[in-house]
Amino acid sequence: MLNEQINKELFSSHLYLSMCSYFLEKELDGFANFFRVQAQEELFHANKQFDYIHHAGGKITMMAVAQPQTDFDSTLQAFEVTLKHERSVSQSINDLAKQAISEDDYATHAFLQWFLTEQVEEEALVNNLLAKLRMIGDNTSALYLLNTELAQRSFTPPGK
Ligand code: FEO
Repeated sequence: MLNEQINKELFSSHLYLSMCSYFLEKELDGFANFFRVQAQEELFHANKQFDYIHHAGGKITMMAVAQPQTDFDSTLQAFEVTLKHERSVSQSINDLAKQAISEDDYATHAFLQWFLTEQVEEEALVNNLLAKLRMIGDNTSALYLLNTELAQRSFTPPGK
């Protein structure tokens, strides 16, 4: 299940790079930056799980990463897809935590706590941006301001 989770994180990274390219095409560089940073975070998640499997004495198995959606109807729709996707990832981490408990694997359960908290934060962030985008509606000046705000985001590995 942890190997499958690595694959889900890598797929998430693919999906967010795909969204990054969608926003680059629209010249919304701040939104593109937001999704590039998202993609980097997902690679960090995959690597964290990768190392954990090794440290716990498991066998790492890399799998093919599926092709993500390559086009989106609108800025709002890209964020709706993101929220739906993050909810499915949260469900997947919850399932992992449940399985760890059922196998009396408390070390893995402890390892998963970081991801459970991270998912709450990710969903809250996307929910917040969705609410802002709904407020913005067709107001291009407001969209421009949000684009400028999102251009400031950068990737900092947690714990650094
Ligand atoms: Fe690694 Fe966005 O969940």
